Amino acid sequence: MPEEGERTVSTTVREAVSPWPANARFGPGGLELAGVTAEELAARFGTPLLVVDEDDLRSRCRTLRGSFPRVLYAVKAFTAHALLRVVAEEGLDLLVASEGELEACARAGIRGERIVLHGNNKSDAELALAVERGVGLVIVDNLEEVDRLASRAAARGVVQPVLLRVLPEIDVNTHPSIETGARGSKFGTPLCEVQLVIAEIAGSDALTLAGIHAHIGSQVLDLDPYLRTVDTLLDLLARLRADLGITARILDVGGGFGVTYADEVPLAVPELASLLLDRVERGARERGLEPPEVVVEPGRSLVANTTVTLYRTGARKATPDGATLLAVDGGMSDNIRPMLYGARFTVAPAGRIPGGTTAPEERERVTLVGRHCESGDVLADDVDLPVDLPAESLLALAATGAYTYSMASTYNRVGRPAVVAVRAGHARPWIRREDPADLDRLEIPPGGRIPDARPPEGVTIRSARPGDAASFLRMWRGVVEEGGLVRTEQVRGTVRSYRRRFRAATTDLGSWLVAVEDDRVIANLHIQREEHPVTRHVATLGLAVAADRRGRGIGAALLAEALRWAAGVGVEKVELSVFPSNTPAIALYRRFGFVDEGRLVKQSRTSSGYKDEILMARWIGDP
Ligand code: LLP
Repeated sequence: MPEEGERTVSTTVREAVSPWPANARFGPGGLELAGVTAEELAARFGTPLLVVDEDDLRSRCRTLRGSFPRVLYAVKAFTAHALLRVVAEEGLDLLVASEGELEACARAGIRGERIVLHGNNKSDAELALAVERGVGLVIVDNLEEVDRLASRAAARGVVQPVLLRVLPEIDVNTHPSIETGARGSKFGTPLCEVQLVIAEIAGSDALTLAGIHAHIGSQVLDLDPYLRTVDTLLDLLARLRADLGITARILDVGGGFGVTYADEVPLAVPELASLLLDRVERGARERGLEPPEVVVEPGRSLVANTTVTLYRTGARKATPDGATLLAVDGGMSDNIRPMLYGARFTVAPAGRIPGGTTAPEERERVTLVGRHCESGDVLADDVDLPVDLPAESLLALAATGAYTYSMASTYNRVGRPAVVAVRAGHARPWIRREDPADLDRLEIPPGGRIPDARPPEGVTIRSARPGDAASFLRMWRGVVEEGGLVRTEQVRGTVRSYRRRFRAATTDLGSWLVAVEDDRVIANLHIQREEHPVTRHVATLGLAVAADRRGRGIGAALLAEALRWAAGVGVEKVELSVFPSNTPAIALYRRFGFVDEGRLVKQSRTSSGYKDEILMARWIGDP
């Protein structure tokens, strides 16, 4: 029997909650998020698109912050820098599980002392980085890590505060892949070894024990496992004090609080907090302990419901057994959760309702499938949709803020979606959609042979001469005036200045090459190596071919000659920049082994607006 005044989960009212963000509204204009319609968002940013309701995110941060003494947001749920900044601004600290997550927080501008590092197999590099960045706490997983962390802290002359992760042997009712506190789990130190590890920590001059930690799993809807975790950890604190005379001030009960995806009914955060804190307070007093500071580590429960994914529908098929398959333009690459955990998502039409009515339509059950090359690429079964849903409609999936983008892949070379935040009628992009240039950026260019490209009959490729200046300028002006091909919009150089440049057109530092036909300059290539000693192995090139001479292999012949010059003078890497819209040029560079190295966003401000530039490079030998 519960003691008088003690509340248990059975006496706690749980109210059905919506999986949609707080500022989502469905009306005749379709789904509106914080005053911006899904149609408008899709038109501006494309689909699939993740849309974050920023005010909802902020208000969830405040609720958590107001309910618990200290909250660490588990960034693995969603690490967009903009999101990390919002969360930090709202007073939450951050829990990271890797060097990459630690760097993301640092790059988002969050100070080390607000960051906590955990992980069951941290590398030496991660431990060193954590100490170097001055992280507030390291959650030590096991005995082996104690020494490694202590030596890194000692080397920097600091005393690193730590928590010890305990394996509390508590089962929870969730998907087996995300249950982490049961016997046999790979996480944390088993209860029987805890005293030994704590003694080790206590014995180190470079570490100080700030408290203990447990995380029992994720998408946990019951309160009871948390209460049992609290009891287990308090028993442990009592034993530590009795046996080792150690007082630990922090009790970190982890994250894992469940959310509503479809019909799940979680406890409201303030309710959960008061029940948990109550248990800690009473439990500590019963054991004669000063109540420790309670820390929680929510990931999913902070971000999942703040976000929706918008998709556009495509192919529709009827199967022989009467099912309807409706495909969308995303799938397992942007949301792997249905395939990995059998996760269910709520789906709703998000576009304008034809005829502007919300009158009840005839409904049908469809299976929402993705665009990827696997039959398992099913986002949702049994989705209830109006039968007259137009082709190419927008659909929204609710509660996609946690573990979707952060687990996204580029399977089938489908780039990861864009992410935008909406607030008070405005949309602000947080993450750009990944495009083919982004997907190429880790590819290593082929080195080796320079393609053997000869100029066509009657065309000579050679170093420029002073006498070419006037003809070169005519060709160059023509290309510039076409617009949209090269950076230059106005030719400033004069015949005289080019005569001077062409006097020593080819040296060890650079080369001006021209293609000449009937005494006329019809194309040119300028390649110049860097002067700085550290970048002298790099040369940059620019290429222009007169409009009426394209498609004859003249650019290729110039490029081959330029690469031969580069090889001859010991240049190792040749780079260039090109507008993303210049497909013929990009194709030529690719044929010559150039790959994308990055993108300079809005690097050129031309008379027809801003343009991005794609950086491409190729190595002369092996990189
Ligand atoms: N603390 C620790 C030590 C954790 O390992 C995790 C999550 C959290 C906190 C945050 O848990 P949350 O509040 O988000 O449930 N990819 C899976 C979830 C994996 C969770 C891993 N650890 C999914 O999509 O369901």
